[in-house]
Amino acid sequence: MNTKVIVTGGAGYVGSHACKALAAAGYTPVSFDNLSNGHDWAAKWGPLVVGDVLDPAALDAVIAAHKPAAVMHFAALIEVGESVKRPEDFYRTNVTGTLNLLEAMSRAGVRDIVFSSTCAVHGDVGDALITETSPIAPISPYAKTKAVVEGMLADFAAAHGLNATALRYFNASGADPDGELGEAHDPESHLIPIACQAALGQRAGMFIYGDDYATPDGTCVRDYIHVSDLATAHVKALDRLLAGQAGLEAFCLGGGVGTSVRQVLDSVKRVSGADFDVQIQPRRPGDAPMLVANVGKAQSVLNWTPERSDLDVIVETAWNWHKSQAKA
Ligand code: UFG
Repeated sequence: MNTKVIVTGGAGYVGSHACKALAAAGYTPVSFDNLSNGHDWAAKWGPLVVGDVLDPAALDAVIAAHKPAAVMHFAALIEVGESVKRPEDFYRTNVTGTLNLLEAMSRAGVRDIVFSSTCAVHGDVGDALITETSPIAPISPYAKTKAVVEGMLADFAAAHGLNATALRYFNASGADPDGELGEAHDPESHLIPIACQAALGQRAGMFIYGDDYATPDGTCVRDYIHVSDLATAHVKALDRLLAGQAGLEAFCLGGGVGTSVRQVLDSVKRVSGADFDVQIQPRRPGDAPMLVANVGKAQSVLNWTPERSDLDVIVETAWNWHKSQAKA
């Protein structure tokens, strides 16, 4: 059996955890990453090819050299706030980059792809749990690029026989329980890493963006999913594609539990044993009050259950990672 899988963005946060899970399942991940946000130290479960999805010749070359059975596509710009300021970069990397990839796959006859999508394609659904059939109504340029790509996958499936799985992540968080990988964005904008940095004294304190939402404690509610649980879901989605899934399928991947910003900060203080200053700021533009998944489809169709997505487990693994990086 051909075990090779090209993993674009394989040196990034979710991509590197997926590579580890792929290797554990007997696949050989070949990371294809331009290292703009990824790290070469994170690509350690197979070869790393430094290249850019905006370079069609580099995509042809990596596919010709490794003849993969399938592709996992993580390479993308991800910061919602940045996407509002410079949408052109997001459309270029996320949309044109994916078009380049699909065309390179098509030229080489590679038909199976797992795509890193986001629950943000659904926009603000109010209090309802989000399912795969919730309306597609993205708000930010970032989420719009992901929705465009999902449409592109459906069209390539119909026209060219592509088989694709779009995994709509909720809030990817935590770190490898073995301490080999973790989240290392620069600059950091995500809640749990920022709170860990504050607990380590690397920041003077931190902000809560809005405490006047119509939520139980007034702060935004999110669905935090452990990155290793996400990685496992990718392997299951790939297995299913290679076993014959046709067309485009989408899955919501969350822990299925809503957690407020205040609950996250309480957990970081509890797990770290450190107190830090927290101040209330105005709402951050583009934040929906509540985003929580119904994970029934992923559970029944992929036979996937989040196992590490209890808040304290997420925070403990993130905290251990940030602590180890601070010592390094
Ligand atoms: N927050 C703070 N203070 C901070 C950082 C964040 O209060 O210093 C709040 C945010 O306002 C939000 C919550 O913490 O309410 C979570 O914010 P993150 O930036 O950690 O994550 P987001 O929910 O904004 O976005 C993440 C990913 C997106 C993805 C989305 C899906 O970054 O790519 O989850 O829910 F689309």
